[in-house]
Amino acid sequence: MVAPLKVGIAGLGTVGADVVSLIEEQARVLSARSGRGIKVVAVTARSKAKKRNVNLRGIAWAKSPLALATDPNINCFVELMGGAGDPALSAIEAALKSGKSVVTANKALIAKHGSKLAALAEKHGGALNFEAAVGAAIPVVKTLREGLAGTQINRVYGILNGTCNYILTRMEQEGLSFAECLKDAQRLGYAEANPSFDVDGHDTAQKLAILASIAFGTKVAQSSVYVEGISSIAPADLRAAQDLGYRVKLLGVAVRTKSGIEQRVHPTMVPRTSSIAQVMGVTNAVTIDGEGISPITLVGPGAGGAATASAVVADIADVARGIRAKPFGRPIAKLRTIKKAPMERHEGGYYIRLMARDLAGTAATIATRLAEQKISIESIVQRHPNGGVDTGAGGKPSPVPVILITYATTEDAVRRALQAVQSDKVITGRPQVVRIEKN
Ligand code: HSE
Repeated sequence: MVAPLKVGIAGLGTVGADVVSLIEEQARVLSARSGRGIKVVAVTARSKAKKRNVNLRGIAWAKSPLALATDPNINCFVELMGGAGDPALSAIEAALKSGKSVVTANKALIAKHGSKLAALAEKHGGALNFEAAVGAAIPVVKTLREGLAGTQINRVYGILNGTCNYILTRMEQEGLSFAECLKDAQRLGYAEANPSFDVDGHDTAQKLAILASIAFGTKVAQSSVYVEGISSIAPADLRAAQDLGYRVKLLGVAVRTKSGIEQRVHPTMVPRTSSIAQVMGVTNAVTIDGEGISPITLVGPGAGGAATASAVVADIADVARGIRAKPFGRPIAKLRTIKKAPMERHEGGYYIRLMARDLAGTAATIATRLAEQKISIESIVQRHPNGGVDTGAGGKPSPVPVILITYATTEDAVRRALQAVQSDKVITGRPQVVRIEKN
């Protein structure tokens, strides 16, 4: 009879508490599937006194994450505190150096220190498992690393932040404000402690950088990700998207291009009929495009305690089974430094919304500036908000929204054209630009 795997958990927030409960509830199944029992023997968190909805009877309380990580009585250290630095970093380093295996849901830490930690795991023989860091319950790390080990991956993209997708869905479907939707996402436990990580796109960037590393065999390069969040998306954009046959999603996209690996996070117009456009609420989806396979899409709950606990417990089960996968799919020495494709060279269609002066010649000026950059217009709509009845004060016409969809062009061309339009003073405010991703 093999002795049970002894687990120590640092962090007892929503996810930590759900992991303790899931291990207890699934004890028999886990033991059957892993070939040995799994037992939580010690935990630690910021406050011991805090009331928690979890049974900690018979489980020791460690005095700090570091003490737990180096406790000789545990074999597997589970880090669920979050944060890109200490105490999570030092505790994980200490656990790996003492030969223990580590399971974490910490995308910020893996995106920043993943290569260094993977090297420690490799040197000391422990596992470093982080399935829960990307897409919560969706087993996308394993799919890329093991399931597609023999396939050349050309593109990985998807909806990687539950909070943003939840906000965009409710804004579109219920006409609610951004602030109301964000408050609900926080109440439901989807959002980060600092929700700007969600809405400004950084959470998606961290997850994308981790996936890109596994997909392309490169060192994690979060700083190479181009990032834009969703806070500039206005109800007018969601309405226009609907009229034009699109839906707005915050996508993370990593793709091989002629000039290197492009990693980008930004609000994106996706065709309303595409499968990614059907992914609503807190659900995440990741599509993997590879040589010789048609795209594979994984869809599932991307945030929340139960969904994240599912992946954490699966990672613990792998440790119990004795699996020691290379964290990024190959030995650290074989991971290349990423060749970053400059964003200026990004090619694709664009949605552009301008608040234009409602005077003769404005549309011609805008069209000329786009033509100078060889940008071809697929559609252009100017809609007076009051059905053509101008309400401008003092005889001055009030600005009207002009919405353009371009055929494929480059980021550089769009930036230049819009700079020229701004200098021409035919628009007010900043142009709204949303990239389009077809299929
Ligand atoms: N805040 C994250 C999200 C949690 O909304 O997706 C899961 O990583």
